[in-house]
Amino acid sequence: MAEKLIIFDTTLRDGEQSPGASMTKEEKIRIARQLERLKVDVIEAGFAAASQGDFEAITAISGAVKDSIICSLSRANDRDIARAAEALQVARRKRIHTFIATSPLHMEKKLRMTPDQVFEQAKQAVRFARNFTDDVEFSPEDGSRSDMDFLCRVIEAVITEGATTINFADTVGYGVPELYGNMLKTLRERIPNSDKAVWSVHCHNDLGMAVANSLAGVMIGGARQVECTINGLGERAGNTALEEIVMAVRTRKDHFNLDFNIDTTQIVATSKLVSQITGFAVQPNKAVVGANAFAHASGIHQDGILKARDTYEIMRAEDVGWSANKIVLGKLSGRNAFKQRLDELGIKLESEGEVNAAFARFKELADRKSEIFDEDIMSLVSDEEHSHDNECYRFVSLAQHSETGERPAAKIVFTIDSKEVTCDGHGNGPVDAIVNAIESKTQSGSELLLFSVNAITTGTQSQGEVTMRLSKAGRIVNGVGADPDIVVASAKAYLSALNKLHSKVEKLNPQI
Ligand code: KIV
Ligand code: ZN
Repeated sequence: MAEKLIIFDTTLRDGEQSPGASMTKEEKIRIARQLERLKVDVIEAGFAAASQGDFEAITAISGAVKDSIICSLSRANDRDIARAAEALQVARRKRIHTFIATSPLHMEKKLRMTPDQVFEQAKQAVRFARNFTDDVEFSPEDGSRSDMDFLCRVIEAVITEGATTINFADTVGYGVPELYGNMLKTLRERIPNSDKAVWSVHCHNDLGMAVANSLAGVMIGGARQVECTINGLGERAGNTALEEIVMAVRTRKDHFNLDFNIDTTQIVATSKLVSQITGFAVQPNKAVVGANAFAHASGIHQDGILKARDTYEIMRAEDVGWSANKIVLGKLSGRNAFKQRLDELGIKLESEGEVNAAFARFKELADRKSEIFDEDIMSLVSDEEHSHDNECYRFVSLAQHSETGERPAAKIVFTIDSKEVTCDGHGNGPVDAIVNAIESKTQSGSELLLFSVNAITTGTQSQGEVTMRLSKAGRIVNGVGADPDIVVASAKAYLSALNKLHSKVEKLNPQI
C-alpha cells in the first residue's frame, strides 16, 4: 500500500513574509477555510509572537477550522512557545513548530551563540513545547548549510525530548536536489532515533529548485511531509509550490507511489483566492495554475488533443479545478439560485445579512453585465467580505473624462466616516486622476507600490479586478476592487487600501 505524504501549507506564515503579501485577519480566515476545503493536513497559520495581528489570526483560525491541524511557528524560547500555545488554545488539533539556526554562519553572525548554546536551547524549546501539545515540530534553520555532525547531535537530542516532526530547512534555497536528498538520507541513517519522527522538507526557490529539492527529499531522503505554499508564494523567490508537488506526485504515481489527502479540484480556486488577496498575480505559464497551463495553441497539438487527449495532456484541467467560463446566473436569477451557487462554490457567508448584501450586489452587477460567471460571484463575495461597517472610506460614485490631447479629469464621491465628500483631480491618465482626487481629500502620505489590473473572466465585458499596494511608515497593505469599469475598480481598490492603512489592528509584515 502507498505511504501517505503529509501536506503542510505555510502560505499564511512563510508566504506572508513576502513583502507586500501581508494579510488581514479576515483574509487569513478566508484562506484558511479554503485550505481546509483543499484538505491540507497542516495549516501553519502564523507566528504568534511576531505581532498581535498574527496572534489574533491564529486564534481565529483555530476556532474556524476543524479538520486540518493548526500550527504556529515560534523561535526556540519559552516566551514564543507559550504565546504559540495560547494562540492555539481552541484548536481541535494543534502543532507547535519551533526553530533555531544550526549553520556556523547563522550561529556565529546572527545568533551570536556557540554550538553548545544552540544545542541546549533547541532541547529546552522542544521540552517546553511538549507541555502544551504532543505534536511538536523542530526545524534546524539553514539546515542545508549546517555541519552534518552537529545536525545529528541536535536532531537526536530534540527527538529524545519529544519532537515528532523534523523539518530539514533549505532556508536560503542553496540546495541541489541530489545533495539535499542525500543529506536527509544520511541524517536518517546516522541518527539512532530517527524513526521516532516524521521527516519533512522545507525549501526556498532562490535557484528555482524548491520543488525539485523537495521531491528529492521525499524520494532520496525519505521525507513524508512537504512544506509548501499556494502559488509558491514566499519571500524572495518564494517557497515550494503546493500545486506542483501535489500534481507531480499524483501524475507520476508510478514513480512516487505516495498518497495524499488533497482534493485537487480545489487547487485553482485556492490559487485564485491567494492571488486575489495578496495581489501577487500568477504568471500565465505557471505550472498547474497559470492561465495558459492547459492552453494548446499550436495546430499540431490541438489536432492531437482532439484525436486523443493524452497525446499532449498529462493531467486534466478539470482535475485541478479549471472549468470553462460558465454563465451561471443572470438578471432574472433569484436569491435561492444565487444561494445555491454559493453553496456549490463552497462559499459560506457568515449570516443571512451578508447573503442579502451579496445578493444585492449581484443584482446590481447583473443589471450592468448580462452574463455572470463563477469568477464574478467569487469576486463579488470577496468584495462583500472585505467591506465592514466600521470602514472609514466608502466609494459612492465617480465621473471621469479623457480625450486625446487633454489631461484626464475625474470627480469622485465617497464617504469618510459616513459623511459624503466630493473631490476633483487631474492626472496622466484616468486612474492617476482618480487617485489624485482621493488624495486631495485624504492626504494619506502613502506610497503606491503596485497597481495591477486583471480581467476576471474573458471578453471585453469582463470585470476588471484592480490591486493597489500602498506603503506607509513601514506598513504595506493591499486593496482590491472589482467592477466592469476599471476606473471604478481602481477607486475601490485605492479606498480599500486606505481603509487598511487606517485600521489600527493591521500589523507590520512579520519578518523572522
Ligand atoms: O526557511 C526557513 O528556515 C523557515 C523555518 C522557520 C522553517 O521558514
Ligand atoms: Zn522558510
